[in-house]
Amino acid sequence: MRFKKVLHEMNPYTPGKSVEEVKKEYNLKEIIKLASNENPYGAPSAAKEVLVNGLTGLEIYPDGYAGDLRAKIAEKLEVQENELLFGSGSDEIIVIIARALLGEGTNTICATPTFPQYKHHALIQGAEVKEIPLVDGAHDLDGFLEAIDDNTSVIWLCSPNNPTGNIIENDQLISFLDCVPDHILVVLDEAYYEYVVSEKYIDTTKLFQTYKNVIILRTFSKAYGLAALRVGYGIGDESVITPLNTTRSPFNVTSLSLAVAEEALEDQAFIDQCRTLNREQVERFYAYAKENDLHAYPTEANFVLLEVPGSATDATEGLLKQGYIVRSGDALGTPGYIRVTIGTEAQNDGFFKAFDTLLKR
Ligand SMILES: Cc1ncc(COP(=O)(O)O)c(C=O)c1O
Repeated sequence: MRFKKVLHEMNPYTPGKSVEEVKKEYNLKEIIKLASNENPYGAPSAAKEVLVNGLTGLEIYPDGYAGDLRAKIAEKLEVQENELLFGSGSDEIIVIIARALLGEGTNTICATPTFPQYKHHALIQGAEVKEIPLVDGAHDLDGFLEAIDDNTSVIWLCSPNNPTGNIIENDQLISFLDCVPDHILVVLDEAYYEYVVSEKYIDTTKLFQTYKNVIILRTFSKAYGLAALRVGYGIGDESVITPLNTTRSPFNVTSLSLAVAEEALEDQAFIDQCRTLNREQVERFYAYAKENDLHAYPTEANFVLLEVPGSATDATEGLLKQGYIVRSGDALGTPGYIRVTIGTEAQNDGFFKAFDTLLKR
């Protein structure tokens, strides 16, 4: 078989250990997964009801236009319906962008470390990937500008950045966009947007009206608590959205997912509450880090990159044995740190207790 050469040098996505695997391996009754930045408070309850009651019409294809959800999001964000693109998670929109814009002879620019799927799909398309190291956990936008050349097609910005949680502040973003040639697509991945509390973060949903080469990515997987259902969307100018829509497969988001997301969108009180609770718990992580003289990156998301005593792999293993699944920085490009999803108050109590044992070693 003549697979693309690059695939021989790459690996499939390897998810962290599942709750069931860890239970079995360590003979534990309860496992707390703080590894994938999911919402520990679940999803809006009305949205869950839609799923339970929606099990009819399974033989019918979904609405490939996502008409109802599209109309609701357009109204909420005050954009036109043709300025939206739907994907099976924002993951799929990343694939669509890579397919539509990247190939041999092109290059793309992203931070490192950042969400790895930008690089992954760019490489599969045969593009060169220019990775610009973060500075203190934040995007080095001057470094991005220096890396632009005639073959640059896509720039990926992740704000808040996974895995550091840093944001790109308003003025930085605007001055950056002012300098990027308008034939280069700038993807602003805001998977954790709903958690941001910083006043230095603007509502980016209208940016594309000034900068037609910008697309914003959002998702129902994080604050909306619907990771299992796979719904993400892009917001951009029609001139960007239309060719991306052509690249999309026709029925990429399931009917059930669309219906649940539509209901979830109505529950702004749930989102506001999750943001507040998340922030309260983030502050506890900072306090814990300070008490123990450990560095924690300033996060605007629902996870924190926390320094550990010793190696990240050992710390991850030590926590796993006590029933806490986190992501080792050794796998994320941040050795000496672990990425911990901010849990509920009770989950975090348990996490701090488990972490205490690492400090005593
Ligand atoms: C920065 C970022 N972008 C995109 C995604 C993909 O999210 P989904 O495909 O579930 O919408 C994630 C998931 O972890 C992420 O962290």
